[in-house]
Amino acid sequence: RSRVAVLISGRGSNMASLLEAAARPDYPAEIALVVSNRPDAGGLKRAAQAGVPTAVVDHKGKGSRQVFEEELDARLREAGIEIVCLAGFMRLLTPWFVNRWNDRLINIHPALLPSFKGLDTHARALAEGCRIHGATVHFVRAEMDAGPIIVQGAIPVLDGDDEAALAARVLAVEHRIYPQALALVASGRVRVDGMRVFLDGEVSEATAEA
Ligand code: GAR
Repeated sequence: RSRVAVLISGRGSNMASLLEAAARPDYPAEIALVVSNRPDAGGLKRAAQAGVPTAVVDHKGKGSRQVFEEELDARLREAGIEIVCLAGFMRLLTPWFVNRWNDRLINIHPALLPSFKGLDTHARALAEGCRIHGATVHFVRAEMDAGPIIVQGAIPVLDGDDEAALAARVLAVEHRIYPQALALVASGRVRVDGMRVFLDGEVSEATAEA
């Protein structure tokens, strides 16, 4: 089983969905470490309750991004981590870190990329009148919210939706597709070619179906 670290900044509901999936005996990854850049992240308690080792690498008082990322990188390597999952990790990572973990660093974004990179994705999808919205799991590249797409999940936007209602339905999608995407990567069934992700030589069925 691949050793995975989950990086969080907040409540950690996506982290919890990964922990739940990894508790199944046939799941190809184990969550070996949860790291937060904020000491008060709610997800830290949840991880500890599940018996997963946790660490805080506080970005405050570090002087520079590079110092923060070197410490983070050292923690991950000490723990023998092979794959890193960003799950509501709200720090931009520099090209140095992203390149070190190339094709082993994945992120979940609450929109159908390449639409709505950045923040406030649900409000923006509503403001643009989108009929379809969703979430994306992708490999991280130096450019924010860009990188080869592993799995996407879509839902219709309903007439009665406000930001909170839409966010809740997208979150349910996130909790479904992140474990699915991590399983594909951890089982070594994913091949990256430019911006495209292939599964066992074919376009990922999960990408097409989710
Ligand atoms: C999730 O909706 C995730 O997609 C989003 O933050 C939330 C974290 O929730 N990530 C981003 O916006 C990244 N820019 P969680 O802590 O409950 O998983």
